Amino acid sequence: LGGPLVDTHGRVHRDLRISLTDRCSLRCTYCMPEQGNEWLARSSILTLDEIERIARVAAADGVTTFRLTGGEPLLRADIVEVVRRLSAVVGPDGAPVELAMTTNGIRLPELLPGLIAAGLGRLNISIDTLRRDRFHELTRRDRLDDVLAGIAAAAASDLRPLKLNAVAMRDVNDDELVDLVAFALDHDAELRFIEQMPLDAGHTWDRSRMVTRDEILGALSARWRLTPVPGRGGAPAERWMLDGGPKTVGVIASVTAPFCGDCDRLRLTADGQLRNCLFSTAEYDLLPALRGTNVAELVPPVAELVEADLSIDRMLRACVRGKLPGHAINDPSFLQPAR
Ligand code: GTP
Ligand code: 5AD
Ligand code: SF4
Repeated sequence: LGGPLVDTHGRVHRDLRISLTDRCSLRCTYCMPEQGNEWLARSSILTLDEIERIARVAAADGVTTFRLTGGEPLLRADIVEVVRRLSAVVGPDGAPVELAMTTNGIRLPELLPGLIAAGLGRLNISIDTLRRDRFHELTRRDRLDDVLAGIAAAAASDLRPLKLNAVAMRDVNDDELVDLVAFALDHDAELRFIEQMPLDAGHTWDRSRMVTRDEILGALSARWRLTPVPGRGGAPAERWMLDGGPKTVGVIASVTAPFCGDCDRLRLTADGQLRNCLFSTAEYDLLPALRGTNVAELVPPVAELVEADLSIDRMLRACVRGKLPGHAINDPSFLQPAR
C-alpha cells in the first residue's frame, strides 16, 4: 500500500472521479435516452462505507482530488454524509484531499449549506442554455429555473473557483456562447465550453457537425480580446483571459486537442468498477475485494481489513497499468463504447 499510481507512460494519477449514482433528474440528449438508462441494481451501488474505504486507499496511493459525479450526485440520499466522510480523508503526508463536485445544480438551493458545512471544496455546474424552451428540449425536462436557482446559491456562497460547464452544440446553443460567458461573469464564475464527445446512447454524434474549440474561440473573439493563460498542467480545460483578465473562459477540447498525454484521472463507477479512461470499456471490479470477505459487515478483524485494502490497492494499480496512451475518438475506426 502506498506509493504513486504511475502508468506505463509515466503519468501519475492524482484525481479520482467518483460516480455516486447512475440516475439523473435530467435527460440531456447527448448523454441519456428519453427513458433513462437501464439503472444499476440498488444492491450493487457502493455504500457510504465502501466509498470511504476506496477513497482512503486511493489517498494513500497519492490521489489528492476526489470529484463527485453521477448521473447526478445530489440525487444520492446520503450525499451530505458522503461529503463529510470524504472531506476528512487525508494523504500520507496528513494533508487533506481536495473535494469537488460536478452537478446539474437542481437540488443545490436546499443542499448547499449542508454540503459546505460537511467540507465540500469546489463546484462545477452544467448549464448549456439560458433559454427555457431550449433547455426543456435539450434536457427533456422543464427545469431551467431550478438550475438557475442552484447557480445563484453557489454564486452567493464562498465556494471558489466556481465553474459552469456548457457543451457547445451546433444549431442548439452555438448562438449563445457570448451570452453564456456574460452570464458566468455575472455570477463570479468561469464558463467552460466543452466539445461534444461521442457518449450519447443514441450514437448520433457526428464529428463533422461538432462545434470545435477554434469555432468557439472565434465566436468569443468578436466580443473579448483573448489571451492564453499559461500552465494548464493535467487540467482538461485550456483557459484564456478576457480583455486582459482577471476574468477567464475555458475550453475543454477533448476531440480536437486531446489532453490524454497529461491525463491524471481514474474513475470509479457507482457500482464499484474502476476505469482508467472515460472511453475505456475495461472495468476493474472492486466489489469482490469489498464484499467477498464481508469486511464491511461487522467490526472486522484487523487482518481482514488490511486484506481488503490491499486488494483495492492492487486493483488501482492494475487499472493504471492497463491505461492506453490516449483515446481513439479521432480514429476513423472508433466505435462508441456501450455506457
Ligand atoms: P476541474 O478539476 O474543475 O477542471 O474539473 P473537470 O473539468 O475535470 O470536471 P467536470 O466534471 O466539470 O468535467 C468537465 C468536462 O470534462 C466534461 O465534459 C467531462 O466529461 C470532461 N472530462 C472529465 N474528465 C475527462 C477525461 O478524463 N477525459 C475526457 N476526454 N474528458 C473528460
Ligand atoms: N460530451 C461532452 N460533455 C458531456 N457531458 C456529458 N456528456 C457529454 C458529452 N457527450 C458533460 C456534462 C457535464 C459534465 C460532467 O460532462 O454536460 O457538464
Ligand atoms: Fe444528467 Fe449530466 Fe447526463 Fe445531463 S449530462 S442527463 S445532467 S448526467
